[in-house]
Amino acid sequence: PSGAHVPVLVIGTGYGGSVAALRLAQAGVDVQMVEMGMAWDTPGPDGKIFANTTSPDQRSYWLRTRTKQPLSNFLGFPIDKDIPRYTGVLDAEEMGQIIVYQGRGVGGGSLVNGGMAVTPKRENFGAILPSVNADEMYATYYPRANATLGTGLIDPAWFDTTDCYQYARVGRKQAQRSGFPFVFVPDVYDWDYMKQEAAGTVTRSALAGEILYGNNYGKKSLQKTYLAQAAATGRVTVSPLHKVTSVAPAAGGGYTVLIDQLNTTGDTTATKTVTADRVFFAAGSVGTSKLLVRLKATGALPALNGEIGQGWGDNGNVMCGRANHLWDPTGSLQASIPCGGIDNWTAGGAFAEVAPLPTGIETWASFYLSITKNPNRARFTWNAATGTVDLDWQTAWKQPSIDMAKTIFDKINAKEGTIYRTDLFGVYKIWGDHLTYHPLGGAVLDRATDNYGRLRGYSGLYVIDGALIPGNTSVNPFVTITALAERNIENIIAVDL
Ligand code: FDA
Repeated sequence: PSGAHVPVLVIGTGYGGSVAALRLAQAGVDVQMVEMGMAWDTPGPDGKIFANTTSPDQRSYWLRTRTKQPLSNFLGFPIDKDIPRYTGVLDAEEMGQIIVYQGRGVGGGSLVNGGMAVTPKRENFGAILPSVNADEMYATYYPRANATLGTGLIDPAWFDTTDCYQYARVGRKQAQRSGFPFVFVPDVYDWDYMKQEAAGTVTRSALAGEILYGNNYGKKSLQKTYLAQAAATGRVTVSPLHKVTSVAPAAGGGYTVLIDQLNTTGDTTATKTVTADRVFFAAGSVGTSKLLVRLKATGALPALNGEIGQGWGDNGNVMCGRANHLWDPTGSLQASIPCGGIDNWTAGGAFAEVAPLPTGIETWASFYLSITKNPNRARFTWNAATGTVDLDWQTAWKQPSIDMAKTIFDKINAKEGTIYRTDLFGVYKIWGDHLTYHPLGGAVLDRATDNYGRLRGYSGLYVIDGALIPGNTSVNPFVTITALAERNIENIIAVDL
């Protein structure tokens, strides 16, 4: 309620925010979480909470009147369609020359992501978070994160036989024929549930194309893991459809937090003021960076340092498709949860996930999301003229990612006698170089904050999400975000509380 005083306020309910809330609550602290998106706990008229990828509707997009599908075209034809404006689950946020896809709602990115729960190779960790003790991460915090997230691996014997991973077996065969290692990728999907989906004994979810706009059954989103445990403590309150707009030092100590209450068309219906002793920024890389850059520039938090807004990267994301021969069908039934990747990180700077194209028809297409060692970093700046935070990323900065992905796919195409698909991102366009699913950085650890996420310049303000990570994790990021949050909150609870 407006006027309340709380010991801890957490902005955002994604990975970082959920770790902070659970561990603080377990330490006996009452936590107020504020989330701009919806609760996603009530089915719509079709009996489902979320729509699937083949029939997006108003639930699918954050305040858009037309879908913005990552694969914008099929056979060259645009496939986007009009939808009512609504506080839907996936935000395709246009930040200058890149579209940053993010989850909106209680659970953050865990609502919309593929659930791929990948721990980076230990030898790569020093480049990811140079100021963090790797021994501690691999002995304690990665295992803790994976255990609490419910990470698991597909049964390799089932993988070899099930129709729904035909596309991934084609991906494996072709990778291996070109001399690349194919690795299974762990996921937080309930693999037993997926086996039952395939057997026809439960309601289909991954096998019904549910992923990008939410998953109704098998995926262990944060609502089923960290946030469920947090709720069970009785100390955590979550306010959905509430958006934090300001944080500034309060006269009597602590911080004054301004919050807009939203309706489902995105209008502000009330403005609330809460005082908090401590505030955790967990609004995601873009959300946290936008808030901090604006609050520093407009005088609410002027003592934040010059590292605020710096060091942002796209985790080197780039997408592409390949056209297979008629004797290599990828299957009309495709599990929406990816389970394997092609590792050419050391030699070529690319790790490519073999991704599904769950269209329901045979496409003879192989589709990949590559994570690459792209060195380019962008910065967020305050634009006083427009009153917005801008990001200076340029489309051309994806070229290193394309070159690195080509170390894999040029070779596979040469070996197989195949070509790239040119119809998935436009007309005669091979590379999906206009987007990222993995925004990272903007308030980098040990630069904008101390080595545990305490914001420099203000005691009692913390960053605890993907904004801490300087642009790249070499694999999918949420396990690293979660493990780093586990490490940092343990130190904060021990030292500050
Ligand atoms: P996260 O973005 O999860 O949470 C931030 C929350 O804060 C959001 O709920 C947001 O609505 C809220 N918020 C923002 N501003 C606010 C404000 N001012 N007031 C109140 N609330 C506010 N990663 C991976 O490891 N494996 C995978 O398979 C995938 N796949 C994937 C697919 C797609 C389509 C996407 C979009 C992303 C992925 N990811 C992924 C990425 C992963 O989901 C992402 O890295 C994490 O969710 C980031 O976690 P954070 O805690 O940083 O923020």
